Amino acid sequence: MCGIVGYTGRGSAARAVFRGLKALEYRGYDSVGIALMHGGRFALHKRVGRVDCIQDVQEQNGEIGIGHTRWATHGGVTEENAHPHVYQRFAVVHNGIIENYRILKEECLLRGERFSSETDSEVIAHLFEWEYRGDLLSAAQRVCRRLRGSYAIAVLCLDFPSVILCAKKDSPLLVGASVEGQFAASDLSAVARKGVTCYRMENGEFSILDKESVSFFGADGTAIEKTPVSYSLQEQDTELGGYGHYMIKEIDEIPQAVERTIRAFKREIEAVQGLKDVFRIHIVGCGTAYHSGIAAKLFAQKRGCVSTEGYLASEYRYGDQTVDANTLVIAVSQSGETADTVAAAVMAKKRGAKLLAITNVAHSTLTSYADCVLHTKAGCEVAVAATKSYNAQLAVLYSFFDAFSACRERIWKGLPDLCKKTIEASRRVKEWANQMKSAKCAYFIGRRFDYAVAMEGSLKWKEITYLPGDGLAAGELKHGTLALVDESTPVVALITDQAVADKTFNAVHEVIARGAPVYVVTSIPSYANCEGAVDTVLIPQTKEEYMPMLSVIPLQLLAYYAAVALGNDPDKPRNLAKSVTVE
Ligand code: F6R
Repeated sequence: MCGIVGYTGRGSAARAVFRGLKALEYRGYDSVGIALMHGGRFALHKRVGRVDCIQDVQEQNGEIGIGHTRWATHGGVTEENAHPHVYQRFAVVHNGIIENYRILKEECLLRGERFSSETDSEVIAHLFEWEYRGDLLSAAQRVCRRLRGSYAIAVLCLDFPSVILCAKKDSPLLVGASVEGQFAASDLSAVARKGVTCYRMENGEFSILDKESVSFFGADGTAIEKTPVSYSLQEQDTELGGYGHYMIKEIDEIPQAVERTIRAFKREIEAVQGLKDVFRIHIVGCGTAYHSGIAAKLFAQKRGCVSTEGYLASEYRYGDQTVDANTLVIAVSQSGETADTVAAAVMAKKRGAKLLAITNVAHSTLTSYADCVLHTKAGCEVAVAATKSYNAQLAVLYSFFDAFSACRERIWKGLPDLCKKTIEASRRVKEWANQMKSAKCAYFIGRRFDYAVAMEGSLKWKEITYLPGDGLAAGELKHGTLALVDESTPVVALITDQAVADKTFNAVHEVIARGAPVYVVTSIPSYANCEGAVDTVLIPQTKEEYMPMLSVIPLQLLAYYAAVALGNDPDKPRNLAKSVTVE
């Protein structure tokens, strides 16, 4: 988490850094800071709060600067702990975790150095000062050799008034070169724009940015050439475009996300052929990506694929499951940077498994380890709560399993249109949100594919309403949770699978009998007038395996409207960040 930015060039560094920080705000937003170098000294601006609370700094002079938007790991949310950290000649912004910072800090303290923050990152500025003997690159090499853990850093030194030094290991870092100036940032969306050539830095590499150009160096300090990454400016679009929040904009974009993803898969289908020779498939991911993996596992089983299981990446990486050369691991991640998912993928590679990465971010850490990459084409997802990326993940996973199982059936072209109709049919959940916003706890129930969606619905609910919620297999209620159900615990029931609809309906009656207000999402007209339910949303009908793509939409909207009704910012839920690059 955290986002780092750097700029050196002919324009205003304060404006360029601020703009970059706005693009990276989804990575963390508890405090923010910018260091500008001007007239032989640093001007340091740090504030607790979101990036906007530093917007006045844009008026400051300076043609070189670095910035940081923070998601606290070591040290509380205070101005002192906000980056950049300055020590004597050096200012540093850091994304990652320095695991051996205590030992390093101890050494600095023994030398009599004073620290002004509780962070692991400040030690990097101290090490630079200690290791510096007039040559910035050599100092960086010596410093990086001493760091354990993960880092993407941008460093300013008062002796080099137009230079930014960057280094990276296990945290993402991109560099952009243009006539107007040079940029560095944690992700492509903050550097990509017209006229900017972008490069992805790899582990162990260094870059030196000055006003006119960028140079890259390997771990041993020798100059290297790098190939620019290709990107589509349209996919980097982060404009709000008249919407009140990114989350609602991104829900409205689901039909295009699904349509683009299905189309792109057709061009990538050949890649799947090389992955077929396996006995088992493991799908790994975190949060929403895990939930898309669970729905896809059910889909794979329906298609009669080889044994397919879905795992939480954070459990999988430490688990004892069989992973070998006969295993295909599918790592699903919107960002491609989630630490647990990347670690699970690396572990699987080490054990000889084939690795397929499914990501929404083309040049991410996960893609660099993969044997094969399939892209979701959801476009930039800014809201922390994942919405359109879930639907796009389903589109690519389903397409993959159809191709893998040589199923004649292909993912249905009509799905984007059905998504659009579902969005329209689901607007009425705004009223549900008003009724449910004072709930003690909300339960989401369903069976099979509906259960997979119930889990995702409850995650969305908790994440942005800050109210308790649980996604349950409808058949499990009476094995425990029913004890908690009463008038203050609304239940959202998903009934989209004809084969088990009656069974879920039994569970609905059981909770109505305990006084729970019940809200039904169904695609089956005969369940649309469910007696005793508060209200029903009737969504379009398609095969049950495709229903998660649709039935998740009313639940995404429900969480959104409830969060807004509660006065929460649905785009930036407290304590969370979009890219979870720490374990
Ligand atoms: C929930 C949400 C998170 C992410 C999870 C994995 O709305 O957004 O649960 O799904 O942090 O992130 P990625 O997909 O980037 O690996």
